[in-house]
Amino acid sequence: MRIDILTIFPSMFAGPFDESIVKRARERGIVSIHIHDIRDWATDRHRTVDDYPYGGGPGMVMKPEPIFAATEAVLGMDERRGPIILMTPIGRLFTQEVAVELSRHQRLIIICGHYEGVDARVHHHLATDEISIGDYVLSGGELPAMVLVDAVVRLLPGAVGDPESVHRESFSDGLLEYPHYTRPADFRGWRVPEILLSGHHQEIAKWRRRQSILLTARRRPDLLARADLTPEERKWLAENLEQA
Ligand code: ADE
Repeated sequence: MRIDILTIFPSMFAGPFDESIVKRARERGIVSIHIHDIRDWATDRHRTVDDYPYGGGPGMVMKPEPIFAATEAVLGMDERRGPIILMTPIGRLFTQEVAVELSRHQRLIIICGHYEGVDARVHHHLATDEISIGDYVLSGGELPAMVLVDAVVRLLPGAVGDPESVHRESFSDGLLEYPHYTRPADFRGWRVPEILLSGHHQEIAKWRRRQSILLTARRRPDLLARADLTPEERKWLAENLEQA
């Protein structure tokens, strides 16, 4: 996969993509990430990328010309095609499902918005997708772009050492993940649940699945409503949900 990120703060991206799974995926050639400074496509001496809003009001708006020029130039750098994503608080909500969908493309172009917003013509005539990472306002699209890239890259085949772990984790089956324990078996008197020390793999799998269901029911009933539970699991949940 090729990912192009268009930003007015390219130096913000030093760090997150140079560690851990994203770093390894880049080294393995699973993904290439290219950061572009939108200012390089500004045409005036001051490299202006923003201007006052028509109609008045507070703040500045990102001008369309440098963003269109940058995107068109970046499109010409590779034959692969994919969505042109604008990071914006008015976009569709980013979820694991959206991450999976995006991971199937050969290419992503991500535009990071700033200031009060981006000229609406970028929304309407350039972006093919608009994504928000949550119902809060950040000072720009850079952190959201990093969140999106991290979630997508770890889904690419070969990016994570043990692909099983990607399939088992939170949200992959619409449930929150079960609790994990490692040694010691007794830490300050808090013991690891006995079942996990038993070696009974089937019983352990059942315990974990039930823990996932219980946690999801308590913390995220919205997720549980859409999860695929067997009639037995539903019955078990009804019997156990009330207990602390
Ligand atoms: N830009 C500012 N806030 C944002 C958010 N929550 N998601 C995506 N882009 C943003």
